[in-house]
Amino acid sequence: MSKKAYITTPIYYVNDIPHIGHAYTTIIADSLARFYRLKNYDTFFLTGTDEHGQKIEQAAAARGKSAKEYADEISAKFRALWDDFEISYDCFIRTTDENHKLGAQKAFEVMFKNGDIYKGEYEGHYCVSCETFFTDSQLINNEYCPDCGKVTTIVKEESYFFRLSAYQDKLLKWYEDADECVIPKAKKNEVISFVKQGLRDLSITRASFDWGIKLPPSLGDSKHVLYVWLDALVNYISALGYGTDEKNISYWPASFHLVGKDILRFHAIYWPAFLMSLNLPLPKHIAAHGWWTRNGEKMSKSKGNVVNPREVAQAYGLENFRYFLLREVPFGQDGDFSQKALIDRINSDLGNELGNLLNRIIGMSGKYSGYKLDSSSVLKFYKKDIDAADAVLCSAEAYMYELQTNKYLEEIWKILTLANQSITIYEPWVKIKEGKNEEAAAIVALSANLLAKAAVLFSPIMPKTAFSIAKSLGFELNTKAYEKLIVNKNLLDKTVITPIAPLFPRIEKELMNTPEPEAQKKEARKDEQLISADKFFNSKIQIGSIIKAETIEKSDRLLKLSVDIGEAAPRQILSAIKAYYEPKNLEGVQVCVVTNLKPAKIMGFESYGMVLTAEDKNGISLITPQTLKDVGAIVK
Ligand code: MSP
Repeated sequence: MSKKAYITTPIYYVNDIPHIGHAYTTIIADSLARFYRLKNYDTFFLTGTDEHGQKIEQAAAARGKSAKEYADEISAKFRALWDDFEISYDCFIRTTDENHKLGAQKAFEVMFKNGDIYKGEYEGHYCVSCETFFTDSQLINNEYCPDCGKVTTIVKEESYFFRLSAYQDKLLKWYEDADECVIPKAKKNEVISFVKQGLRDLSITRASFDWGIKLPPSLGDSKHVLYVWLDALVNYISALGYGTDEKNISYWPASFHLVGKDILRFHAIYWPAFLMSLNLPLPKHIAAHGWWTRNGEKMSKSKGNVVNPREVAQAYGLENFRYFLLREVPFGQDGDFSQKALIDRINSDLGNELGNLLNRIIGMSGKYSGYKLDSSSVLKFYKKDIDAADAVLCSAEAYMYELQTNKYLEEIWKILTLANQSITIYEPWVKIKEGKNEEAAAIVALSANLLAKAAVLFSPIMPKTAFSIAKSLGFELNTKAYEKLIVNKNLLDKTVITPIAPLFPRIEKELMNTPEPEAQKKEARKDEQLISADKFFNSKIQIGSIIKAETIEKSDRLLKLSVDIGEAAPRQILSAIKAYYEPKNLEGVQVCVVTNLKPAKIMGFESYGMVLTAEDKNGISLITPQTLKDVGAIVK
């Protein structure tokens, strides 16, 4: 039985279309999975989408879609991008999959049985954008999320808690014992100091909305859904059949969980604690990468500067993009995307070093030997060059295990430089003139072998390029080639070279328009925000008169309104306007009400509609008709 490797990406939220950050994690994970396959590991590579939670529910509602409808649409976009990018995943999991649901419920049940879950009441702040709970002292200016800066909401509801505090010492021991459980080291140290400050029990269910996995039926409590991070983290085992058929469970524990630095805490603290409670082995490596900026600026939709990976791959080529992403930044550090940096990498590393070397080999072999390549005299004349290259290639692999892909590629490029230099220094054209044909053939074969060895090792990162080079040099790029050329340090058999067109034509100018942010915003408006009139009229908006307004004991934001819209009885509607209106002043005020919304439960109260408001820097105001109208009148 060959050794097993299990590689995962985070599962991506479906509130947004894929951007360079998603592509980066996925391409690193894909390269790592291909690296393990090359080395004949039985490899399982998982990616997918994270589809539950308040953030998705709100994003769907903002577009007038059901959460599932919206999740289906965006999940398909992720999958289509990975398919177009030929990402070699073995499983694409969706947290709305039935198997995942069963796996997540089983995990909850086991943790409950093991005494790690208890019922209580949660009171604190919640950032919907990060799907994270915060205490008062963690907030910025008592209100804003310390991670993303957005306004948080106050949550006070019944909740089940996980005894995270009980795992503090066990986690610290794990960090100490398993040296590389979190990489890079600097990130691991941040996790350790966070845990040392003390861990509080974690709220792991939500009761104020529905879009999530229900608690296991055995608990007989259908009010709650699983906290989206518990739901999401379990994907790493449910994808292997945990809680269902256990078909692929032997891949566990994960060899590498690839994550961005912003979600390391969930993976390096909550996830191992959950696993300890489940009595499952812990992941071998949790690897946190940095963030990409664009031209030195943080990317955001509002700035209109988000890098679209599909656009980059179309303009510059997918393989070039993959090379750039993995070569440009040391793993763990932030990186900057600019077309200039990408073009420099393509023209110099890929064009001048790699492409040029292949062209020279094709040219020389055509001229001197009718494209025949014979390696039999290489060791006679140039053993020391081959030995030097083999030593470098052998040590390069260690970098890949640490995900130092930039160093890994740097080492491989040393071989390409050596090959180019050997042609220049040994001058096969002079040898031919001197009648030393065997030596000339050996120089061509030396450089071809160095290129072949390099191509085998960079094939996980640029698979298509490596395969084209192998085809041109006349060998098959597979595990056998890896064993022969890299492990056993052998040379190519006699082959025939096939000329191919230059792989990296020089790029003289930027190939993507970078619209001004303002212009880009207008573009976005054109694509995303224009809807047909029909769609607008899907919402039924009517004039209503507020009969009564009351505060809700536990809420700082909500008022409970009783609104007459001309039906048999007034409707109960909750509205987040408490900070702006005295309840008694609202009686008799006319408002615009969306009356055909599905009822929602907010803080334990049913709400049968939505009162329209407008918000600016001065706060929130109700939208009222300019003159009194009959209740029930249609707004259009
Ligand atoms: N759904 C959670 C993950 C659950 S895993 C059990 C999530 N999803 S996400 O879609 O918001 O983010 C996915 C990944 O994209 C994260 O690893 C995050 O670090 C990464 N990136 C988001 N923006 C990024 C950049 N600008 N640059 C690099 N990566 C970034 O979090």
